[in-house]
Amino acid sequence: MDIAKAFSLAGKTAIVTGAAKTTGLCYGMATALRDAGAKVALLDVSDGIFPLAESLGGAANGYYAVKADLCDQPSREAGFAKAVEALGGRLDILLNGAGLQHRCDAIDFPADKWNIIINVNLSAMFYMCQLAARVMREQKEGGKIINIASMTSFMGSKRIPAYTASKGGVMQLTKALSNEWCGLGINVNAIAPGYMDTELTANMIHTEQGKAHTARIPAGRWGKSEDLQGAVVFLASPASDYVSGAILPVDGGYLGM
Ligand SMILES: NC(=O)c1ccc[n+]([C@@H]2O[C@H](COP(=O)([O-])OP(=O)(O)OC[C@H]3O[C@@H](n4cnc5c(N)ncnc54)[C@H](O)[C@@H]3O)[C@@H](O)[C@H]2O)c1
Repeated sequence: MDIAKAFSLAGKTAIVTGAAKTTGLCYGMATALRDAGAKVALLDVSDGIFPLAESLGGAANGYYAVKADLCDQPSREAGFAKAVEALGGRLDILLNGAGLQHRCDAIDFPADKWNIIINVNLSAMFYMCQLAARVMREQKEGGKIINIASMTSFMGSKRIPAYTASKGGVMQLTKALSNEWCGLGINVNAIAPGYMDTELTANMIHTEQGKAHTARIPAGRWGKSEDLQGAVVFLASPASDYVSGAILPVDGGYLGM
């Protein structure tokens, strides 16, 4: 095997959801896909997606911005179509990274938060996978779908019941879709980041619970966005052609403890 070629994404195209902030995990993964050669359409509900794509050099540098609300069917489908069009009419890679979280005792957890979290983290992910697989099936050249799971795909956690339920669902959805689509050459895998130092966890990292997590991480630190870059390029590239239905923890060894 030509290893450099196996890890190259030259000539490939990718949609990345949830990459509107330079401080988020998906931004780092999107830039890794581009650095490995793929053109990248960044799709997010936030207006921040436009200046962010521009700051990366915009279309001239292979980055395209699309605003869409993944929870709204017409917006999601129009956004997906716009992204594929911007990418020249083909799609090789879908990275489903958009996600929400809300922290509250389960006994008081508000229904509106439950609904939106399940919608963004799980239902919209399924519909995006479906849209991507239809294009990939048509192209007859396979494809790569990468879903962002979590440590809560494996563990119950506390005070984030909707997030935990959604990420448990992401793990099972990934396996279910892999079973149906791997035969079409579409690999469906997930990355499960460990405890990552981002805005999503900013209100937790320095709490007693946060310190307890740090003490349990064999690597001795919380992860950074760059820690996910190798994993995402691997799962997007031909190097992982025989890997499907896998949930890859990138967690500094946390799950092994
Ligand atoms: N930060 C962590 O410690 C951690 C750990 C494990 C997994 N994750 C997962 O990684 C992913 C990225 O997390 P992050 O920390 O970068 O979060 P983030 O808040 O920086 O990014 C989430 C993005 O999702 C977008 N989004 C939310 N609702 C949307 C909608 N309806 N339509 C389109 N876009 C929408 C937001 O605008 C935002 O840009 C999430 O799936 C998260 O669950 C994060």
